[in-house]
Amino acid sequence: MQKIIILDFGSQTTQLIGRRVRELDTFCEIMPYNKFPKDDPTVIGVILSGSPYSVHDPEAFKVDLSQFVGRIPVLGICYGAQFISHTLGGKVEKADSREYGRANLQTVDTKNPLFKGFEQNSQVWMSHGDTITAIPDGFEVIASTKDVKYAAYAKCQEPNAKGIFAVQFHPEVYHTSQGKTLLRNFVVDICGSKQEWSAASFVDSTVAELKEQLGNDRVILGLSGGVDSSVAAVLLNRAIGNRLTCIFVDHGMLRKNEFQQVMDDYKVLGLNVIGVDASEKFFGDLAGVSDPEQKRKIIGRDFVEVFNAEAKKITDAKWLAQGTIYPDRIESLNITGKVIKSHHNVGGLPKEMNLQLCEPLKWLFKDEVRRVGRQLGMPEHLISRHPFPGPGLAVRILGDITPEKVRILQDADDIYIRGLREYVDTDGETLYNKVWQAGVVLLSTVRSVGVMGDERTYEHPVALRAVTSTDAMTADWAHLPYDFMAKVSNEIINKVRGVNRVCYDISSKPPATIEWE
Ligand code: XMP
Repeated sequence: MQKIIILDFGSQTTQLIGRRVRELDTFCEIMPYNKFPKDDPTVIGVILSGSPYSVHDPEAFKVDLSQFVGRIPVLGICYGAQFISHTLGGKVEKADSREYGRANLQTVDTKNPLFKGFEQNSQVWMSHGDTITAIPDGFEVIASTKDVKYAAYAKCQEPNAKGIFAVQFHPEVYHTSQGKTLLRNFVVDICGSKQEWSAASFVDSTVAELKEQLGNDRVILGLSGGVDSSVAAVLLNRAIGNRLTCIFVDHGMLRKNEFQQVMDDYKVLGLNVIGVDASEKFFGDLAGVSDPEQKRKIIGRDFVEVFNAEAKKITDAKWLAQGTIYPDRIESLNITGKVIKSHHNVGGLPKEMNLQLCEPLKWLFKDEVRRVGRQLGMPEHLISRHPFPGPGLAVRILGDITPEKVRILQDADDIYIRGLREYVDTDGETLYNKVWQAGVVLLSTVRSVGVMGDERTYEHPVALRAVTSTDAMTADWAHLPYDFMAKVSNEIINKVRGVNRVCYDISSKPPATIEWE
């Protein structure tokens, strides 16, 4: 299959470039800047990303352009554009003032294939401290803003395959209003993508590959009720049927009725699932523990123990499947060496089991996983589920965990989430679908006085949390309507014994995190 290579120089928006290319039904791979796959004939174009460095920094990342220049089309973005200029004989200097934020293209050469369909004054998003002050010989300016003469430059030759294009602004971000047009022009017109990458083609080719790879082997997969592991399971089930055994562990801190509901969903989907109710073990081991990290450690350890005990019973298993998705892997490959999020996987399976790893979703972004799920005919409520942390409600109960506290939190959470699902906002979308993630936190270490009827109460507050985000790395609190808050708060206080106060968490990430523990 045709692919675009995105060489990553460490920009925060590299992943976004990848997602935009995939939205054009074109497969792409994000590779570290120095790992261009030289001998791969399926590569139809290359994009050089931005970077936190200046081209003049001694530690700046460098790539040998001769590997692809003149053979396949090249698009440099921001640092990528400056690197091309700097390397091929142009000039890059510190800008008098940092060029940051919105700008408009005062001149734009719409005859250039990169800018086909562009309007004059189109808005673009700049973000750079250096600026190009001269372009290499043989190149021409194809767009300028008021302050940036070389907003875009290019060397076009027939056939397009020899073209080099460079933009100092970011076409991948939302604020560049015709950014999608620019990327489409590059990927489809200039590189010649046949736009073959779709959920349907992914399902067909992956099922065929899995059949080939797994043969008659037996596979084990840990299900969490979340989107990624569920889609991975259904995909594997298509390929190998009942030779896939799924294990779903109930640690007792799932949402209200969630274990049974998800088990029922899995049965309808025809999955071969072993449900393990291990809640007693988890509650026993967590008794009296209130330190957040210790709670997480105990849950992690118990989970591995319970999962392994079940997995070991499947003596002829050869593979362990996981719902790892592409962003998990790009983060772990991140070239600047900073690990932002550690991998949440099953981990620690006994070596003697000698299992090989199978990760059928390892090339997909989250929105693509959802599309594949729909293609596989999975129910919408499974596909559009909010992310939910592995340790479950345990990280949403401050202090030690007891079954009674979990019950209180489950009841409050159930009212809140049901309310979000039922409330249709002015734009016709439910609040549930508008937010990235929502949940309730039980402040069980705090008590306050209230009054119900003629009775004094002395009970716990709960905090409602709802955030908007695209990847959970950063998040903002969701501006939920007041009438919704009023209704939910009322219902929780009236119906959930043990709660007499409701607060709303208005912290963004950073500096807060999404979960409280
Ligand atoms: P934080 O709280 O770090 O959460 O802002 C970011 C995202 O990760 C989820 N989360 C977890 N997911 N195991 C998981 O599988 C965990 O231990 C875990 N802790 C947090 C959180 O719900 C949010 O989506």
